Amino acid sequence: MEKISIKGLIEAGKIGEKVTLKGWVRTFRSNRFIALNDGSTIKNLQCVIDFEKFNEDALKRITTSACLSLSGEIVESQGKGQSIELMVNDLEVLGDSNPDEFPIQPKKHSLEFLRENAHLRFRTNTFSAVFRIRHAVAFAIHQYFNENGFYSLHSPIITGSDAEGAGEMFRVSTLDAKSPPVTESGDVDFNEDFFGKETNLTVSGQLEAELAALALSKVYTFGPTFRAENSNTSRHLAEFWMIEPEVAFNDLFDNMDLAEDFLKYVIRYILEKCDDDLEFLENRIVQEEKNMKAELRQPHALREKLRLVTENDFERVSYTEAYQILRNSKPNKKKKFEYHIDEWGVDLQSEHERYLVEKHFGKPVILYDYPAKIKAFYMRVNDDEKTVAAMDILFPGIGEIVGGSQREERLDVLQNKMKEFNIPEDEMFWYLDTRKFGTCIHSGFGLGFERLVLFVTGMTNVRDVIPFPRTPKNAEF
Ligand code: 4AD
Ligand code: MG
Repeated sequence: MEKISIKGLIEAGKIGEKVTLKGWVRTFRSNRFIALNDGSTIKNLQCVIDFEKFNEDALKRITTSACLSLSGEIVESQGKGQSIELMVNDLEVLGDSNPDEFPIQPKKHSLEFLRENAHLRFRTNTFSAVFRIRHAVAFAIHQYFNENGFYSLHSPIITGSDAEGAGEMFRVSTLDAKSPPVTESGDVDFNEDFFGKETNLTVSGQLEAELAALALSKVYTFGPTFRAENSNTSRHLAEFWMIEPEVAFNDLFDNMDLAEDFLKYVIRYILEKCDDDLEFLENRIVQEEKNMKAELRQPHALREKLRLVTENDFERVSYTEAYQILRNSKPNKKKKFEYHIDEWGVDLQSEHERYLVEKHFGKPVILYDYPAKIKAFYMRVNDDEKTVAAMDILFPGIGEIVGGSQREERLDVLQNKMKEFNIPEDEMFWYLDTRKFGTCIHSGFGLGFERLVLFVTGMTNVRDVIPFPRTPKNAEF
């Protein structure tokens, strides 16, 4: 008998075919109808059993999340909402699931509860939809770069440099934590450590991607990054995935064009390929928001929100323009912002970013030319010498989703900048070498993968779009 997935079966719709299906029970009702799901699609297949054919013991074992193998014939469905069903001749319980102990009942559970049961939450419709979409987003990203002449670059996960300054780092060490070797001055002696120096988990693959871009022209990294910040928000993870393209000969505006084209491509791909899952998640949000005040509800249905992004130009606004908008905004004048906007040069907080995106422009915004003081050392200094060629992309409901810049390619300017930022030149000789030997303008950006998946799925907490979230005080599973 042919082995086939539920997705394949529904697509083929072959009436009269004899098949074996393996999957997990979503529901079992009237001792007759099993809704079987194998994860290949959000859709369950209705499997009909003639209860007189099976003994009572077998029927008792058909419980929520039990794993079954069902064989029989595909027939046209009598019921509503599906075109085909399986008339079961043969039933085998592959794995029992005790309904008194299985934590996820066929009722509505809170996302917090499911997070505590992250090892089993894949069995729910919501999370299987989220993780199918997560896969599709990753696939579309690789496809976009492949179609556009980029090379995938595996930048190191363990790094000996901490110059990026993107956040606190996690140390990687094999030294005895209780009694590490010490130097004469009493410091931990990292010469004795595995790599003979202090090493950490990377916060970004950018600096290495730059080295490769100055030879391969167009590269991108797609890897895990680690930040030991104590940020307990719905947007931050201690371990997250980042996509970092880096392109030789691109200036800041080419960089914006690339980021916008790339994001639209990926979202369009999801709209095209994941409609069933999007529809499910869209309805889920409508249910969730039923009892909410109108102003708290999402302004657009999920797929409409995604289409608005793919069909409209992102707004491009300089930091200085954004600063003026914010300074003159109602919430600022009425002192409603937690962080008052007063002097030019302040860092923008997420409340400001969200005001710009959600209230003022109502669409994705690319903010560029930030004050040099609040951005990293490697960003290219503009002619005004006060700002750098940085850009952040802000999305509705998310805030910052992309951070990038044109890089400082002038050796002397970069060296001065490093002095200012207290970055020792000898530790970064390799980075400076690219500016010594055939330097050129180049640009890149970093996209937070989970933030994009958050946007696309309409979920509200980044912990619900990564299989096993790592956050402060939490590394379960
Ligand atoms: O803005 P960030 O820190 O930029 C960089 O790391 C640059 N090296 C990127 C580059 O130019 N190649 O991070 C980039 C993006 C952010 O815009 C955000 O979407 C995401 O990474 N991000 C996080 N996502 C989840 N949890 C965190 N703690 C994140 N920190 C940053
Ligand atoms: Mg940033």
